[in-house]
Amino acid sequence: MADDLTLDAREGLPAEMRVLVEEYPRDMWEGHPNFSGLTAFWLQMHGKFRSVQTELLRLSQDYLDGKAEPMRYGAMTSRYTGFFLEGLHGHHNIEDHHYFPQMMQLDGRAERAFDLLDADHQALSHHMNALADATNAVLRPLQDGKDVRDPAGKLHGVQSDFQRFLDRHLTDEEDVVVPLILAHGENFH
Ligand SMILES: [Fe+2]
Ligand SMILES: [Fe+2]
Repeated sequence: MADDLTLDAREGLPAEMRVLVEEYPRDMWEGHPNFSGLTAFWLQMHGKFRSVQTELLRLSQDYLDGKAEPMRYGAMTSRYTGFFLEGLHGHHNIEDHHYFPQMMQLDGRAERAFDLLDADHQALSHHMNALADATNAVLRPLQDGKDVRDPAGKLHGVQSDFQRFLDRHLTDEEDVVVPLILAHGENFH
C-alpha cells in the first residue's frame, strides 16, 4: 500500500522526493555559490512563522498555568495570530502563483513534490480556519469578562497541532526548494 503523503499523516518526504536534498544536504546550503539573498530571506520567513507559533503556544500555556493576566493574554494572542495568519496567507499566495510555477519548469524530478506542497497549502488553509475559530472562541468571551480556561485549553491543542503540521510542511518544502535553487542557479525573480 502506498504511504499516506497527506500533511496530517506523513513523517517526511518519500525517498523519490529526497533525491535532490541528498545531493545538496542542509549543511552545504549556506556556503553554496547559488545560495542567494532571496533564498536566505525566504528561509528567514519560515523561521519567523516558527517563532510566532512558539510564542503563541507559550502565551496559552502561561495563561493556563495562571501566570498571565487574562486581558493581556487576549491582546497578545489576537495581535500575534492576526500577524501570523495574514503573513502565512500572503506567503502561500506568492509561492503558489509566483515561485512554484517557475521552479516546476526547472526540473521534472520535482513535479510530484510540488503537487504535494500544493496539497499541503490546501490542508493548511483548513487548519488556518480552525486556528482562527479556536482563537475567536477565546477572545470573544474574554472581552465579555468571562472565564476562558476551557476554550484556552482547546486553543492550546489546536495551536500545538498547527505547529506540528506547519513545521512538517516548512521542513519538507525547504528540502524540495533549496536544493532545486542550488542545482539550477539564481533563475528566480
Ligand atoms: Fe509553503
Ligand atoms: Fe514557504
